[in-house]
Amino acid sequence: MKPIRVGVVGAGLMGELHASIYRSMSGVNLRWIVEPEPARAAALAGQLGVPVHPTADGRWSDVDAVSVCTPDHVRQPALDALRAGVRVLVEKPLATAAAEAADLLAARRRPEHLMVGHVLRFDPRLLQARAALPEIGKLWAVRCWRSNSLLAAQRIGPRTSVAWFLGIHDVDVVRWVTGLDIVEVRARGHRMVSPHYDYVEVHALLSDGTPVSFQWSWLLPVQRGSGLQAGLELTGAEGMLEAELSHTAVALASRPSGRQRQLDTFHWPPHASGGPGGDLRAELEGFVQAARTGAMPPVTGEDGARAVGVIEAVDRSIAAGGAAVMVGEGGPL
Ligand SMILES: NC(=O)c1ccc[n+]([C@@H]2O[C@H](COP(=O)([O-])OP(=O)(O)OC[C@H]3O[C@@H](n4cnc5c(N)ncnc54)[C@H](O)[C@@H]3O)[C@@H](O)[C@H]2O)c1
Repeated sequence: MKPIRVGVVGAGLMGELHASIYRSMSGVNLRWIVEPEPARAAALAGQLGVPVHPTADGRWSDVDAVSVCTPDHVRQPALDALRAGVRVLVEKPLATAAAEAADLLAARRRPEHLMVGHVLRFDPRLLQARAALPEIGKLWAVRCWRSNSLLAAQRIGPRTSVAWFLGIHDVDVVRWVTGLDIVEVRARGHRMVSPHYDYVEVHALLSDGTPVSFQWSWLLPVQRGSGLQAGLELTGAEGMLEAELSHTAVALASRPSGRQRQLDTFHWPPHASGGPGGDLRAELEGFVQAARTGAMPPVTGEDGARAVGVIEAVDRSIAAGGAAVMVGEGGPL
């Protein structure tokens, strides 16, 4: 079997994870990493033993597929790769505006060339919830919440809001688990510690009229054992489905850290291969498998664009003091 040749563009937190997973996958040849920050590039080259370049210009023909893990507002590498006919996995969010998402869809030579990193679709807890949904009968209401620690507010807060960083995960989860689009939102946003919104509440409607309430924040104290508190609750005429999505399974208390920490067992915990595992690894396996067979990727560009459209509507509603906003209103999607 011919190996799939892959690259990674943008090698901060997520790009390093993508590169480490590709490097530990059989049938995958990690050709290069692109990272413009010189100290970071030098450290990665030493650590991963892969060439690290400051730009991807002139290198697209070396790869069949690429992960783009740049900050949300940097989407030029994804556009360039798509125009060059390379298969692209863009970390969530696909874009920071519906118009930009539409440009990315239009840049594809074929629809199967674009996948979006909505990693929670590969979380076994949510795969289980989706499979069990028919048993709860007609859906009456959905609640979904996700909080990170103040460390996330410090790191990401200067760049974007909690709705774009965390909320977009849950928007995609609710669309995917229920199989219904989110058509209307009313949202309130609050600033506590960063220039963008740190706490966002949304009352949304699915296309069949089912109400959904979302709550997103990055205000958990740094001293808290877990930096993630999240869950999904679906109530129906025949029952209720509750998914606990926080880190709760493995606790480590140590003198050096001075506290107890709940360790990640789902997103990118260690894997038997020596690289990271969890739902991120499953996502990259899905991307590579689609590249190998020529199939549609498991999360499409259209899925990513719909989630962007919902968060854009959330921003519009916050700006309008919580007024109802139809998704897609004022945008091309
Ligand atoms: N799936 C998840 O759960 C998850 C978690 C965190 C972040 N993310 C997403 O992943 C993406 C990256 O986030 P991060 O936390 O790794 O950010 P980061 O700041 O740690 O890393 C981004 C890297 O991109 C590099 N970069 C900047 N401009 C570039 C360019 N033009 N070309 C190439 N590289 C460039 C930066 O030097 C930096 O090293 C974001 O879109 C973010 O929203 C996803």
